[in-house]
Amino acid sequence: MAAGGRVIKNNIEVFLFSIKCNYKLNEPLSKHTTLGIGGNADYFVEVETENQLISLLKFINENKIKFFVIGGGSNLLFSDEGFKGIVIKLSGYFCKYEISQNNVVCGAAISLSYLAQQTAKQGLSGLEYLSSIPGTVGGAVFGNAGVKNYPISSVIDKIEVVDYYGEKRVLTKNDIKFEYRESNLNGNIITKIFIVLKNADKNDILKTISQEFERRKNSQPIGTKNAGCIFKNPKDDSAGRLIDSLNLKNYSVGGITISDVHANFFINKNNGCAKDMINLIKFVTNKVDERYNIKLETEIKIIK
Ligand code: EPU
Repeated sequence: MAAGGRVIKNNIEVFLFSIKCNYKLNEPLSKHTTLGIGGNADYFVEVETENQLISLLKFINENKIKFFVIGGGSNLLFSDEGFKGIVIKLSGYFCKYEISQNNVVCGAAISLSYLAQQTAKQGLSGLEYLSSIPGTVGGAVFGNAGVKNYPISSVIDKIEVVDYYGEKRVLTKNDIKFEYRESNLNGNIITKIFIVLKNADKNDILKTISQEFERRKNSQPIGTKNAGCIFKNPKDDSAGRLIDSLNLKNYSVGGITISDVHANFFINKNNGCAKDMINLIKFVTNKVDERYNIKLETEIKIIK
């Protein structure tokens, strides 16, 4: 058998070929993360339908293969050694959306900012404050992404998930525990999201979106290779403010530099690697702890 003219070497490839999944071998994860960091994934698989996803998860489970589902790659740090297993990227069916009155049903892989624009154009309010958050809707729900008092959980009605054994389930908002930048959805792959929005004046919503974009442009290093805020905010404070107060803006470890715009953003300026990032995170965590006795926790996900 052959895929793209290439000889298929092992049972993983035979299986992927049998369920008609596109895949790449030794794919650089730096191409799939906003930080531009990460070694190679053994297998990088594009899953286009729910049946493919279910079959693949069953296969992964039976064969005890390590796997990870990647969204927009905007909140992730993969190691320099890469990922010894299968990285799954949802596409196709998972990028579709439908708007009916004030209900939105969307696939997990659609971009949150794109969806916010589309709903705004229909005079639907609820996503405008989230419009400048990079990444996919699925990723945002998983990590309960938000801006100030607007977490994405506030507009969720229910979601569909496939668990790691390949079983499909529907979870209503009451079944899910959403917290600050967290949910209890570990062990599940979010596939579909049901959102309820409110009717409002289209121009007001579009104005909020552009104000939100301006605010971000002035207070965050847009257009650089970053992963958003590195640390969660400690209770009643801002990690960015704490790091800034220690005069650490522009401080670098290897190719990673603390932004001079917002100190909770670490930028891959100069071919930085995961090791540099981890060392900078450790350095900053120690400095903040020494000075303030506050133990910062990372918001980005570090994948080993
Ligand atoms: N500040 C500084 N120096 C800095 C950064 C911030 O003094 O380098 C001060 C600001 O002047 C302000 C306060 O700290 O007085 C709070 O800053 P900001 O309004 O930027 O908010 P934040 O708490 O740092 C949070 C979210 C951001 C989100 C903004 C929206 C977290 C960890 N961060 O940042 O989310 O965009 O509010 O205003 O919850 C993300 O989650 O990746 C993220 C970037």
